[in-house]
Amino acid sequence: MQQTFDVFGYAHGHFSEVAWMGQNTNHLFPKPVVRKAVQAAMKEARYEEYPFASGLAELKSAMLEDFALPQAKVGITSGGTEALYMLTRALLSPGDEVISSDPTYLIIHKFIELSGATTVNHEIYAAPWRLTADRINNSITPKTRMILLIDPLNPLGSGYPESEVKAIAEIAHDKKLLLLNDVTYRDFADKHTLAATYAPEETVTVWSLSKNCGLAGLRIGGLFAAPDLFSKIWKYNTNDLGVNVLSQWAALAAMKVKKDVFPRIKSRTRANQRRIKKVVESVPGCSLPVYPSQGNMFVIDISQTGIDPQKLQQELLENHNVFLRGGNYLSPKFGNRFIRISFSNSTSDVERFSTAFPAAVQKLRGAPA
Ligand SMILES: Cc1ncc(COP(=O)(O)O)c(C=O)c1O
Repeated sequence: MQQTFDVFGYAHGHFSEVAWMGQNTNHLFPKPVVRKAVQAAMKEARYEEYPFASGLAELKSAMLEDFALPQAKVGITSGGTEALYMLTRALLSPGDEVISSDPTYLIIHKFIELSGATTVNHEIYAAPWRLTADRINNSITPKTRMILLIDPLNPLGSGYPESEVKAIAEIAHDKKLLLLNDVTYRDFADKHTLAATYAPEETVTVWSLSKNCGLAGLRIGGLFAAPDLFSKIWKYNTNDLGVNVLSQWAALAAMKVKKDVFPRIKSRTRANQRRIKKVVESVPGCSLPVYPSQGNMFVIDISQTGIDPQKLQQELLENHNVFLRGGNYLSPKFGNRFIRISFSNSTSDVERFSTAFPAAVQKLRGAPA
């Protein structure tokens, strides 16, 4: 029997050789900022004590200031993932429906299903490459309980204009639905609108410092919600003794410089996008459905090459040390058509991809399935 290739095992086994372009992580945030904060917390042996359970007050203030949502309560969690798990547990019941999309970030669907609810998925692998208020409106049933709005959207990189966010928020308000606004990638967008601006009572805003501040391994994120909604969700807090204290100090240090350093990070990611676009356009059968991306990732459609995205993923990793993802884990219906690449990376990572991608496609084209 043929063994399936363990991409994560391989990538972590070759950690320092790999160009990490597979998980939308950020390798451009200034490392000394984070290192200094963690070292200072270590020096004080902060890890010997439990953290202040409700979270570092200064970090909560920094987040409230960053999001300018003065009426909301903020909770700190072990990555946005924990917030997503808690809120789906707290707010969804068996039989509920959540309006979502395909492609999407499927881990949220897993959590929705664990709560006994189901997703109603609009196919969005075609222009405008995102949900629309009209499509959402037309799919509301008596069972609909929540709308999932990921903006900017992983994996496609599409962003929502303010008029669409407003229209979707108004649907949530008028139809008394919950609106889950996952804004993990918002700092990479040209312009971003929080749904909570238009539906403050109905919206749960989930944030993460994994991608903007480059803290994926420290697992820190959280959520905002209006006080009543927040209390309902926070009853399901799985981290009663608080979130990793070193991560919270690193997060605070990162938030203090984010505004100053982000323009440079964003312009690097835009330059990287341009470089990748040029390479993709030079390879017959490959194209970028969404460009420019409003996040730090987009998909490369390879359907015309006849190559299996899983095979391309393996070839790029094993033979070129370039880690990106096949689309299958992001889309049940369209995942065999694309790979996803992130580009908050060094120029040398992008250059490695630029050499590897045409060579890998050429090698696999016409290879037996
Ligand atoms: C849309 C979206 N939400 C949440 C997450 C998870 O973020 P975190 O690392 O904060 O758990 C991801 C990670 O890729 C994501 O793409």
